[in-house]
Amino acid sequence: MLENIAEIFRSITPKEFRVLTAIENKMKFYEWVPIEEIVNFTGFELKELEYILPNLAYNKLIQRNIKTYEGYRIYFEAYDLLALNAFVKRGTVNSLGEVIGIGKESVVFDATGGLIDRRVAIKFHREGKSSFRHVRVKRETTGERRHLSWLYAARLAAKKEYDALVALYPKVSVPEPIDHNRHAIVMSIAKGQLLAHSRLDEPGWYLDEILKQVRIAYGLGIIHSDLSEFNIFVHPDGCELIDFPQFITPTHPNAQELLHRDIENILTFFTRKYRINRDIQEIMNTFVT
Ligand SMILES: Nc1ncnc2c1ncn2[C@@H]1O[C@H](COP(=O)(O)OP(=O)(O)OP(=O)(O)O)[C@@H](O)[C@H]1O
Ligand SMILES: [Mg+2]
Repeated sequence: MLENIAEIFRSITPKEFRVLTAIENKMKFYEWVPIEEIVNFTGFELKELEYILPNLAYNKLIQRNIKTYEGYRIYFEAYDLLALNAFVKRGTVNSLGEVIGIGKESVVFDATGGLIDRRVAIKFHREGKSSFRHVRVKRETTGERRHLSWLYAARLAAKKEYDALVALYPKVSVPEPIDHNRHAIVMSIAKGQLLAHSRLDEPGWYLDEILKQVRIAYGLGIIHSDLSEFNIFVHPDGCELIDFPQFITPTHPNAQELLHRDIENILTFFTRKYRINRDIQEIMNTFVT
């Protein structure tokens, strides 16, 4: 992960972005993209590339290989910048802020965007990345496919999460989906704080509110499947459910089991922290498609 992604983003020129895009595109066909292909794609002079490429390599965005011919590929971090650049071009992101969340499979940044420059969250998916690390030593023999499969998993997860937010917002309290590119999504900042880190004065009301949102989502065809106090924000007016990439639909073979587990996670949390006891079967019975 680029700790200084904002700084690097600011220093990257449009021409450098064009070179990253060229390598990204040609990596579909090459393990190491020949410099001639970069010339063809960008239309830049070789002389110019001899200045741009070492600079990108210095910033650890691309890697150079000269074993058989001069070739390049981009590092993961370059995908973050490419996605960010797409958002900035479209105006959905204007400036990048701090990291506000690190999940098992994502990094989330605070940012501002849109015409009124409001606060937004950018979630960069990282699915498959840890398993990739595992095989990094074998990289020479497995070639670039591992790299692409990691990216593919992260892209799919981002698309899936974005689709879920589009299906749910605004009927269910979830972040507003704003933009989606590659392995990243832009959404509104969730209000309040994580349920896990809160101390509620009226826990029973919040529990009902959460179950209500889960029920509406179910009616819209979405079962969260990873619901817990760490994926729910609470604020004075209600709650917001986040983190949807693993959702399933009510027709999925394990739908009832996963819905049961989601509700159980919430009930267990409210029993443990607030001594509230509810009958799970009674609640399950209120779920209808
Ligand atoms: N829209 C948002 N607004 C504010 N903070 C957010 C938002 N989305 C995510 N976060 C923060 O980032 C953290 C990680 O996000 P999220 O839970 O979506 O990712 P994850 O990698 O799937 O996490 P997990 O570890 O649960 O698998 C959250 O716990 C939360 O603190
Ligand atoms: Mg989460």
